[in-house]
Amino acid sequence: MGLSKSIMFSAIQPSGKLTLGNYIGTISHWMHIQDMYNCIYSIADLHAITVNQDKKLFQQNILDTLALYLASGVNPKKSIIFVQSEVQEHCQLNWILNCHTYFGELIRMTQFKQKSKINPNNINIGLFNYPILMAADILLYQSDTVLVGHDQIQHVELARKIAKRLNFLYGQVVTVPKIYIPNKNGSKIMALLNPIKKMSKSDSNLNNIIFLLDDHKCVVKKIARSITDSDNKIFYDTVNKPGISNLLNIYSSLTGTSISVLENMFVNTTYKNFKLLVTQSILDILLKLQEKFFYFKNKKDYLRDILDIGASLAKKEAQKTIQKLYNVLGL
Ligand code: TYM
Repeated sequence: MGLSKSIMFSAIQPSGKLTLGNYIGTISHWMHIQDMYNCIYSIADLHAITVNQDKKLFQQNILDTLALYLASGVNPKKSIIFVQSEVQEHCQLNWILNCHTYFGELIRMTQFKQKSKINPNNINIGLFNYPILMAADILLYQSDTVLVGHDQIQHVELARKIAKRLNFLYGQVVTVPKIYIPNKNGSKIMALLNPIKKMSKSDSNLNNIIFLLDDHKCVVKKIARSITDSDNKIFYDTVNKPGISNLLNIYSSLTGTSISVLENMFVNTTYKNFKLLVTQSILDILLKLQEKFFYFKNKKDYLRDILDIGASLAKKEAQKTIQKLYNVLGL
């Protein structure tokens, strides 16, 4: 990696089909920052095994995630793309960080509490440990910046805390990463039928989610059914009009138009017509994305080569941090 640029890290779990929330919150920005930073984009498969996975489907999801990264414009000649489990140093650093993180810090994590409720029969230690593995992902590469959506802020804050703790104890051993939210309006896309909770790929009600691979008919249907309110006025108010505000966030993020401009544009628009415009803005993006996705999906050898090269480049950087920590710890 070139020395002059700072390091940007971002990752997604291949735990199912990716959503419009993942796209708007993170992937859609990845292409645009590739020349500004040394970007490292990971496929976080170890995080995904905190819930049971079907082996065949899981392997397919990993390759599909890569194909979506490429379809979104990530260039493997500019950025490192790799699968987390193919760089063992993540687990090595994870253990070291375990020994520098307190139980009380993890038990406060909102996502752990939420996921434990959703899956009460599988509250495994991996789920509890999850934010420390995330910290390992980030600190391993001496990342200056971490690009995430709103729901991951608490985890990156923990990574910052652990980094400061290590540096306090052992001198300057890791970079304390900054959090980067590229677009505040797109950092938390909400569920379509319940716009007070996040659109999430693990939601059991599929009508809450636009998947990046949804077809034309499906997108039309899901947006038409999305929950709004009854006063037929389009303006931004997340408390009283969460459904309309969510659709405004989606439209604003996909078209690059500010919310205030949209509020003026839609003063006399009915909800029905507004929904048709939102649908069109989504289809404009998704149909192009899907065309590229299917092009890459069929190039199995090319995909495998990208991951092999990515893992070896990532490993080279990762080993430097592990060596540094082994030295200061006396391992
Ligand atoms: P994951 O796979 O749940 O989500 C990937 C990224 O997408 C963002 N995101 C959203 N943004 C806007 N609206 C939404 N509805 C929405 N849903 C998801 C997430 O904030 C995230 O940035 N543990 C992480 C993956 C990870 C990671 C890391 C991220 C592993 N190691 C190190 C950053 C740094 C996760 O499960 O994200």
